[in-house]
Amino acid sequence: MSFDRTIKIAPSILSADFANFGAECEAIEAQGADWVHVDVMDGHFVPNITFGPATCAAIRPHIKGVMDVHLMIAPVDPYIEGFANAGADVITAHVEAGPHIHRTLQAIRGAGAKAGVALNPGTPASSVEMLLDMVDLVCVMTVNPGFGGQKFIHSQVEKVRELRAMIGDRPIHIEIDGGVDPTTAPLVAAAGADVLVAGSAVFRGGSVSNPAPYGENICAIRAAAAV
Ligand code: DX5
Ligand code: ZN
Repeated sequence: MSFDRTIKIAPSILSADFANFGAECEAIEAQGADWVHVDVMDGHFVPNITFGPATCAAIRPHIKGVMDVHLMIAPVDPYIEGFANAGADVITAHVEAGPHIHRTLQAIRGAGAKAGVALNPGTPASSVEMLLDMVDLVCVMTVNPGFGGQKFIHSQVEKVRELRAMIGDRPIHIEIDGGVDPTTAPLVAAAGADVLVAGSAVFRGGSVSNPAPYGENICAIRAAAAV
């Protein structure tokens, strides 16, 4: 995985057909997705349950590019090895998931994955200041985590700007997760984000048997972010 700050669109398979993950991953990549974003939820850290390492391992052969695993779970540490062994390229843990995020990030890199740290909307940018030398990605949640299809929280755009300044020349991606569509993408891109996660705005109108809308949706977000 090489580093650059060009805009990358990362469809979240939370909005895919759950009976068809392999084919959905292939379809979004064929339609121009840069990364595949995998939302892991435990019904404890967030009020929803999705899937775990076994599902990640099952979809891995269907993804040519980056598998970006977003852990909305607590505790995190007992599961890091499982997700790394499942082939995750990036593993992101929440700064709110426990008292030892520093140790968690060390463990993620130790397991051979890129380390990401995610911030809920109520958490300030300063909470990751002491972690910047040990992460490859900062994920700014622009909705409260747990569900797709929620409304973008505009107050987070300023946080992206703060983080971008704090990061400086470090090779750290800024990822935006929640409510990204062609209207909100330019706001976060201008503030310094380079990875745009989008669930409902990518999958709407399409399916494995009719994947063209995925491509149109990805193009629309990318074009909006380029302005
Ligand atoms: C929310 C997840 C997001 C979500 C984004 O908890 O982390 O990745 O799927 O979905 P949309 O793009 O529909 O807001
Ligand atoms: Zn996510």
